[in-house]
Amino acid sequence: MPSLDQLIQTGRSFKTYFDEPVSEEALRALWQLTALAPTANNCSPLRVVFATSQNAITQLAETAHGYNKERVQSAPAAAILAYDIHFYDHFTTLAPHLKQPPSQASWSTEQKQAMAVKNANIQAGFFILAARHLGLDCGPMGGFEAQDVERVFFDDPNWRFNFVVLLGRGNPDSLYPRADRLAFETACRLV
Ligand SMILES: Cc1cc2nc3c(=O)[nH]c(=O)nc-3n(C[C@H](O)[C@H](O)[C@H](O)COP(=O)(O)O)c2cc1C
Repeated sequence: MPSLDQLIQTGRSFKTYFDEPVSEEALRALWQLTALAPTANNCSPLRVVFATSQNAITQLAETAHGYNKERVQSAPAAAILAYDIHFYDHFTTLAPHLKQPPSQASWSTEQKQAMAVKNANIQAGFFILAARHLGLDCGPMGGFEAQDVERVFFDDPNWRFNFVVLLGRGNPDSLYPRADRLAFETACRLV
C-alpha cells in the first residue's frame, strides 16, 4: 500500500480512464474515510452523488464544458461533489452538544454558503487522498453547467454543485508533464 508521501508525490489529476468498473464496496469505503475529515462544529456539509451507470455518466458528460465531455465519458465512475447549505439540519447527530436548533439556522444564505463551501472543500481534499489510498485515480473537474448538474442529479434544493471527481484507473497517456508548484518562499511566511 503506498505511503501518504507517495500518494501526494505520484498522485496526478487524470483526464481519461481505462474501461474498468469501480465497485460500490470501494465507494462505500471511500465515504467512510472521507466522513472522518475535520470540519467546523463537525458540520460535514459534503454531499456526493456517485455516477456509476453508463446512463448516468452520459448524462453527466452532457452537462460538461468542452473537453471535459469526452473526459467524463471515458470514466467508469464519477463523484459529483455538492455542499448542503442546510448542513445544520443534521446537528442532532453531528453536534448534539449544541443548542438545538443551532444558531446557523438563522444565518444569512451567504453565511451558510461560506461555511458549507469551506468545510466541504476540506472534505473534498480528504476524498481525493482517500480515493488514491484505495487505489482509485482521481480527476477533479469544475467545468460543468452547474444548474444542469443540479437539475439532473440532485433531489434536494439545498445541495449546491461544487465540482466533479472522475474515479477509476487513470490512463497515464492523458497526462501532461506535472506543472511547477509555488516555492515555500513565495507561498509561505514565517513570522
Ligand atoms: C476544483 C478543480 C477544478 C478543476 N477543473 C478542471 C476541469 O474543468 N477540467 C480539467 O481537465 N481539469 C480540471 N482540474 C484539474 C487541474 O487542472 C489539476 O488538478 C491541476 O492542474 C494539477 O494537476 P496534477 O494533480 O496532475 O498535478 C480541476 C481541479 C480542481 C481541483
